[in-house]
Amino acid sequence: MSEQPGLESALDQLAIPVLRVEEGTARVLFANTAARMLPFTLEPPAAPGAVLDAEGTPLPVEQHPVERAARGEPLEGELVRWAGPEGSRAFVVHARMDRSRSPGVATLSFQDVSGWHQTEADLRRALGARDTFLSVASHELKTPITVLQLVLERLQRGAHREVSLSGAQLVERLEPALRQVRRLGVLVQNLLDVSRARNNHFELECERFELGTLVREVCERFSEHARQAGSVLAVEDCPPVEVHWDRMRVEQALSNLITNAIKYGAGGPISVRAEPHEGAVSLRVEDRGPGVAEGDRERIFNPFERAASGHRGESLGLGLYIVREIARAHGGTVGLTGREGGGSCFTLRLPREAAEGGYE
Ligand SMILES: Nc1ncnc2c1ncn2[C@@H]1O[C@H](COP(=O)(O)OP(=O)(O)O)[C@@H](O)[C@H]1O
Ligand SMILES: [Mg+2]
Repeated sequence: MSEQPGLESALDQLAIPVLRVEEGTARVLFANTAARMLPFTLEPPAAPGAVLDAEGTPLPVEQHPVERAARGEPLEGELVRWAGPEGSRAFVVHARMDRSRSPGVATLSFQDVSGWHQTEADLRRALGARDTFLSVASHELKTPITVLQLVLERLQRGAHREVSLSGAQLVERLEPALRQVRRLGVLVQNLLDVSRARNNHFELECERFELGTLVREVCERFSEHARQAGSVLAVEDCPPVEVHWDRMRVEQALSNLITNAIKYGAGGPISVRAEPHEGAVSLRVEDRGPGVAEGDRERIFNPFERAASGHRGESLGLGLYIVREIARAHGGTVGLTGREGGGSCFTLRLPREAAEGGYE
């Protein structure tokens, strides 16, 4: 193809695609192995819309980097995208013309930065989610404090005026304050758990217990809450099975999944079941709500992440992250699949014998 075999075999060793192009004609004299391995061609002419600038605007043929390089324009790290069959790839393109012979030869290199772009987009997402979290969290902290303050001030005013309350009146006045204190407690517990999980300090205290009893107890605790949301919460299959897990943490994980099923289950029936397997047990929580779009099914397990559907105001996006960390500390997994006919199915799968201490 060309008269410089030494140079070309050296370029073939590079992981970065390189083209050598004839001055004026833009004829490709040489494409190294990395360039030939791409699932699309870097050479012009490209199909309309196949080559785009950094903002995603299609480039006219004369602006194709190979055409520009062949005209002798030096390219100093310009970002160009190619829309290939497997999605778009971003390259930083460098080009220089060598006119030591006639016609000259331009050498172009294409550094693939698609991964960096993805990382940048992920970081932006994570930062955005954290900012939203801060504003929701401060709102969530403020509400119970306001209620508490009102209740206490009212009681104090009564005491100043020496109004004596009956036991029943006192109970009634204290009820909203207690409800808010419980809410605060849960919130602060979640925040503590997140910071522990972040630092890999999620320590387990495992004990041997019968899982079926625990599942029924937890469901019993949530049945009234589910009823208020219009859902029937039922324990389906739950054969007696002995496990060696951190009882409190597993209760917490199951509670988080059930709370979500109630919150996002659109008032449909919710079922909970335990399935023993060889050496492991799956806990499954299913609802008939709108479910989670396939593209969001991994992301929602990350801290502060929430999918697009309702209840945004009061949700912090920590519940599933904590479930995932509890699973991880037990050496297990948690995953989400869609239900046939709509709804979500969350499966927490843990080895029957979790190692004490958590995290490998
Ligand atoms: N059963 C479910 N059905 C539909 N969406 C769900 C379900 N469970 C969780 N999600 C989605 O996942 C997101 C993250 O859940 P979670 O971490 O528990 O946070 P939160 O409940 O505070 O929003 C929720 O905001 C919601 O969008
Ligand atoms: Mg939740």
